[in-house]
Amino acid sequence: METRILQPTPEHIRQCAQTLTDGGLVAFPTETVYGLGGNAWLPDAAKRIYEAKGRPCDNPLIVHLYDRGQLDEVACRIPAYAVRLLDRFTPGPLTLVFGKQAAVPPEVTGRLSTVAVRFPSHPVARELLRACGVPVCAPSANTSTRPSPTVARHVYDDLQGKIPYILDGGSCDIGVESTIVDASGDRPRILRLGGLSREELEDVAGKMEVVRQSQVALCPGMKYKHYAPKANVLFSAYYSDMAAGICRRYDEAAAEGKNPVILCLSDNASKYGNRNVMRMGHTYQTYAHRLFYNLRAADEQRFDTVLAEGVPDGGIGAAIINRLIKSSGGQII
Ligand code: TXA
Ligand code: MG
Repeated sequence: METRILQPTPEHIRQCAQTLTDGGLVAFPTETVYGLGGNAWLPDAAKRIYEAKGRPCDNPLIVHLYDRGQLDEVACRIPAYAVRLLDRFTPGPLTLVFGKQAAVPPEVTGRLSTVAVRFPSHPVARELLRACGVPVCAPSANTSTRPSPTVARHVYDDLQGKIPYILDGGSCDIGVESTIVDASGDRPRILRLGGLSREELEDVAGKMEVVRQSQVALCPGMKYKHYAPKANVLFSAYYSDMAAGICRRYDEAAAEGKNPVILCLSDNASKYGNRNVMRMGHTYQTYAHRLFYNLRAADEQRFDTVLAEGVPDGGIGAAIINRLIKSSGGQII
């Protein structure tokens, strides 16, 4: 199958919407990362998604909706705190887990009795969802275990020949996936840290437990290897003198004949002298925005070791740390 990257003109959006309605797959931009969409009513579309990604089929998909009117078609038992979260944060980088309506095929939810739902805010995603008129199940549009794609070319690198269309919406703003909140119980719990911070959520819905990664059964996807480039990734704890520790590790790797690169805030780049660096911009928002992109760029530029600066554990920093733990397999400098 030939894979075409399409500009999001009205005509291309109509064409992609038709493909989705008919059971085909389309990759599309969201404000977090690119998604690989299929018609959520059709079990075969879900099967095609698992196949294209090489994803284990017990790892459920998020159902993407255009507006709140569609929520009752897929989800049930919406608690009052979830309505407040929806009012405040959607459309946007928030996924909520609710009781599932029987109409949602078990293939979409990994046979769980719950369904994850999200309302993306990216204008291309919204136009596509509106035009196709059906709920769209979509995981991130990467090959399973690889970093999530934040530009159309990275989708193409992983899925060329396996899907017909990629809608090109440029570079995804946030760069890490949505925050997942379990809203199937009396109290909300965070299952995956992401683009929306714990602090922002707690402002609206009160204190939230962040479910530990070891409680994997609650968010099946978190048990699998994730976000890993070919290069070996290590990351530093966040402390004032972390550049010295990173330089030491870099020099050891170089002495062993490795080709390392450091991911650092742009303002810190001068601390690394003439060592190879990738600048992550001036804020933790830009660090998140560039993280998956640069993990892939490191492979393209044939770096075999990535040494990432640590970030403070709050706001978007918590999501960055979570992704670094996963892509490094927990290797700390
Ligand atoms: O930002 C995002 O959320 C992106 C864009 C494309 O929307 N999507 C995304 O999907 O990151 P994916 O499939 O890569 O990650 C979805 C995660 C998985 O870890 C999965 O296990 C979890 O959501 N999940 C899905 N349904 C669930 C459910 N019913 N209960 C608990 N976790 C669920
Ligand atoms: Mg993913």
